[in-house]
Amino acid sequence: MHFPPWTSVDDAARLLRDGLVVAIPTETVYGLAGNAYEPKALAQIFAIKERPTFDPLIVHICEISQLADVTENIPEAAYALAKAYWPGPMTMILPKKDCIPDLCTSGLPSVAVRFPSHPVAQEIIRKALVPLAAPSANLFKHVSPTTAEHVAAQLADRGLAGIVDGGPCNVGVESTIVSLVGEPTVLRPGAVTPEMIAAVVGNVKVKESTSKPGQPMAAPGQCDTHYRPQVPLFYGKLPAEFKLPERCVRIAFGDTPGVIPATLNLSETGDMLEATAKLYAYMHDLDDPRYDLILVDQIPNVGVGMALNDRLKRASIKV
Ligand code: TXA
Ligand code: MG
Repeated sequence: MHFPPWTSVDDAARLLRDGLVVAIPTETVYGLAGNAYEPKALAQIFAIKERPTFDPLIVHICEISQLADVTENIPEAAYALAKAYWPGPMTMILPKKDCIPDLCTSGLPSVAVRFPSHPVAQEIIRKALVPLAAPSANLFKHVSPTTAEHVAAQLADRGLAGIVDGGPCNVGVESTIVSLVGEPTVLRPGAVTPEMIAAVVGNVKVKESTSKPGQPMAAPGQCDTHYRPQVPLFYGKLPAEFKLPERCVRIAFGDTPGVIPATLNLSETGDMLEATAKLYAYMHDLDDPRYDLILVDQIPNVGVGMALNDRLKRASIKV
C-alpha cells in the first residue's frame, strides 16, 4: 500500500464495497466512511478514530429517496427540510429502520442521516451502492479535518484503506444536527442556522449542548472537551491577571486590535462564512509545539457564528 494511501473515487467505492474504511471529502469536513449496513466496517471506524461506541455515527446518502431506506415514520417536516437544505450541511435524526445496525446508532432507536453536497462524496456513495456511515475523519476529541492532508496527518498509519483528496472543504464546520424525533430540535449548530430551519418547519428548539459533569450528555457526542488542538487554545475574555506565555499566537477575526498582533486572520472584513471555512485549518496550522498558547478572537454568536462559538468553547481551556 502507498503511504499515505491516496485513492481514486472508483477505487474508494470498490474498497467500501469490500467492507473497508476510506476517508472521503464532504463540504463540511472529511469523513471516515464505511458501509452503514456492515457492523465490521462500523467497528473499524470506531477503532481507527479511538471513538467510544456510545457516540453514534451519521449515515450519508446520495438521494432524498434513500431516506426511506434507513429511517421510518418520516414526518412531513423532514421532507420539507430535505427539499430546502439537501444536499447540504444538515443532518436529520429520525427513527431508524432495522437494517441499520445498533452499533451505528450506539443502541439508540434513531439514526442521523445526511445528504452531502460535495460532488465527490455523492459519486463515492453512488458507486459504493450503499449508504455510508461516516464520522469526521479525526481522532476522538481532536480537531476535524478540512483537507486530505489533515486526515493523513492524524489517521494515515491507523489502518484505513484509502484517502480521497477532494480539496479543502468549503463549509469547514460539521453539519447542523436537527432531531425530528419529537419537536424539531437543533442538537448541534452548523451552517444551516436555527432561523433557516424555523423558516421551513415553523418552530425549532435549540438544545443547550454543554454536558454537566457527572450527568448524562444532553446529546451523544457533545462532550465539553472536543475539537481540541494539542497546544492549549483559549477562547473568550482573558482575565486581567492572566499572564500570557512567551510563545503565544493569535487567530484574529476582523480588524479589532488584540493583546498581541494577529498571527492569522479568519476574515479581515468580518465575513462569517469565510471565517468558518478557515477556522479548523488555522487550528491545525498553529497546533505546533513551537507555540504555548493559541488565542482566538471573540466571534459574534449569531447565524453560523453560533457553530463557531459552540466548537471554540469546547476547544478552549478553562482559566
Ligand atoms: O458534517 C458532518 O456531519 C460530518 C461529515 C463527515 O458528514 N460528520 C460528523 O460526524 O461530524 P461526527 O461523528 O463527528 O458527529 C456526529 C454527531 C455526533 O455528535 C453524534 O453523537 C451525533 O452526531 N449523532 C449521531 N447519531 C445520533 C442520534 N441518533 N441521536 C443524536 N445524536 C446523534
Ligand atoms: Mg466529529
